[in-house]
Amino acid sequence: MNQARPAVLVTRRLPAEALERIQARCEMTLYDGEGAMPRDRLLAEVAGKAGAITLLTDRVDDEFLDAAGPQFKIVANFAVGFDNIDVDACTRHGVLASNTPEVLTETTADTAFALIMAAARRVAEGDRFLRSRSGWIWSPLMMLGQDVHHATLGIVGFGRIGQAVARRAAGFSMRVLYHDVYRPSADVEQQLGAEYRDLDALLAESDFVSLHTNLTPQTRHLINEERLALMKPTAVVVNTSRGPIIDEQALAKALAERRIFAAGLDVFEHEPQVDPDLLTCENAVIIPHLGSATVQTRLAMANLAADNLFAGLDGSPPPTPLNPGAGG
Ligand code: DGY
Repeated sequence: MNQARPAVLVTRRLPAEALERIQARCEMTLYDGEGAMPRDRLLAEVAGKAGAITLLTDRVDDEFLDAAGPQFKIVANFAVGFDNIDVDACTRHGVLASNTPEVLTETTADTAFALIMAAARRVAEGDRFLRSRSGWIWSPLMMLGQDVHHATLGIVGFGRIGQAVARRAAGFSMRVLYHDVYRPSADVEQQLGAEYRDLDALLAESDFVSLHTNLTPQTRHLINEERLALMKPTAVVVNTSRGPIIDEQALAKALAERRIFAAGLDVFEHEPQVDPDLLTCENAVIIPHLGSATVQTRLAMANLAADNLFAGLDGSPPPTPLNPGAGG
């Protein structure tokens, strides 16, 4: 390996400016296929590399790290979520792992709010309605939704993105409840006007529930049939975190039976598949994992992933590490 120009793998096309930066410093192998890099190809291409930029669709585990080899120094994930990365395995292999927090906080909060609004006010359904009919007339009872302003918003997972959603809610005069295993300081609660609730109480009290937790074994199916049953029949649930936080079958059933009003979903339990039962629910607004998908934010994420990669290759601390100090 040429030490001056380390060999790296980038598992999907990123914004051009970041790719140019990587190419200027490294021998870059870029997977330019349409879908996620096939597993056998990923394992073959990472062999002998010094580092990699991976996506949430690439599993980084012992198998990946063994395939990469002992010279492998850093895996820089192009996402804030890192449930695709076995961080302990990276640490055991002496490999640094990093993610892309902060740069996507506001953009993802915007997406959550867009889904809150769209699901409450039947925006996608109204669009479909107009496109599929030749005539219609304004009517007092047509497509009534739920008010967002002055409603109660329950935020599950009160980290950066959850708190950014709370800031937006203030502009809509909403009452904000939150649940998290980590309690922020009383100052943060006060600034955001947010009250703590245990999860079941939050679900029962909220008109809108927005999910912002990491996916872990503890949060898989956090929102299941029993918890959906706690929600108001007028409630809306929004998920911009990870699909498996919701039991999708149970959600599709609750939506179809109108046991809750609507859902806004950016992520899916078996992504990229969407449960066929969900596809038939008029009251589900579904978008293809677009949480951070703006020109500005995807560039910022790519540049941060590149900064993490370069630091790991240079043996300096990456700006946003997941296992600081790993790799010596
Ligand atoms: C993330 O960063 O985890 C998102 O899901 C993709 O932006």
